[in-house]
Amino acid sequence: MHDEQLRQLVTGMPKAELHIHIEGSLEPELIFALAQRNSVTLPYDSVEALRAAYAFSDLQSFLDIYYAGASVLLAEQDFYDMTAAYLRRAEQDNVRHAEIFFDPQTHTARGVPIATVIDGIWRACQDSPVSTGLILCFLRHLSEEEAIATLEEALPHRARLLGVGLDSSEVGNPPEKFARVFERARQLDLRLVAHAGEEGPPAYIESALDVLQVERIDHGVRCLDDANLVARLVREQMALTVCPLSNIKLRVFGDMAGHNLLELLDARLVATVNSDDPAYFGGYINDNFIAAFEALPLTRAHARTLARNSFNASFVDDERKRVWLDEVDAFFAEAA
Ligand code: ADE
Ligand code: ZN
Repeated sequence: MHDEQLRQLVTGMPKAELHIHIEGSLEPELIFALAQRNSVTLPYDSVEALRAAYAFSDLQSFLDIYYAGASVLLAEQDFYDMTAAYLRRAEQDNVRHAEIFFDPQTHTARGVPIATVIDGIWRACQDSPVSTGLILCFLRHLSEEEAIATLEEALPHRARLLGVGLDSSEVGNPPEKFARVFERARQLDLRLVAHAGEEGPPAYIESALDVLQVERIDHGVRCLDDANLVARLVREQMALTVCPLSNIKLRVFGDMAGHNLLELLDARLVATVNSDDPAYFGGYINDNFIAAFEALPLTRAHARTLARNSFNASFVDDERKRVWLDEVDAFFAEAA
């Protein structure tokens, strides 16, 4: 994007973020500060040494470091500080609404009560001007029994949950493995999403839709390998929460010029742009927009579509959607 005006458009436009793992917003500086506060020993000597370890070859090589980073989170205030830091950045990036993933099993496995996790994240959300929703993610490398136990543990906090999701190691852990826990979540009127088609095949996107009955696909970029699936996703207006910098860092695409975001939009798929794990992948949501618009021949019309898609694909009611969609339209009219 040589065009400074386009850069100002994508950074200044109102937007929603629909794919952010809150533990992935933990910056190395905060990891070290929390390690010190909680007397946790890290296998890295300095912030620089930790940052230097952020060279990933695939999803698993990232997840190993991501779970190690999350090990410094022990007290409610830790979860508050992490979430408050993310929301400050999101506000700067003109994020009006964020649907935030969290991974309770990463914490309960270390003896941290789920109430500590949810209370800290929730309190930071209440203190932010950014509108928020919380999505509890099940770790797909663990068993479905463990996912069911986690959902039951979370039930006293049901009113604070928007939905459930599915993340962690995709290949070898297909959506079918979590059919029963998603059925239970559906009975509880929780909104349903799942990571599918990040490293896994289009068949995982199909089973996330057919078996889990998800309402949004996280990543989904590999759908283009299957023309019938693309036709279905377009027909159903099924949103994909695309994370450009993540896809480059985890080598889903060789470089940003080879990313398929433009093809997804040109196919009329409801693609959105998100940050995934901003502290690990080199940037927050606006950095993702800038990187994609610099490398790909995306236009002002694409920017507007992406902003509108982000609100349309969110789980807020139609009235609130309308307010933000009107704000997007006014923003683009003014920036004519
Ligand atoms: N957990 C955090 N980020 C993730 C990603 N991109 N894919 C799967 N699980 C994750
Ligand atoms: Zn993700």
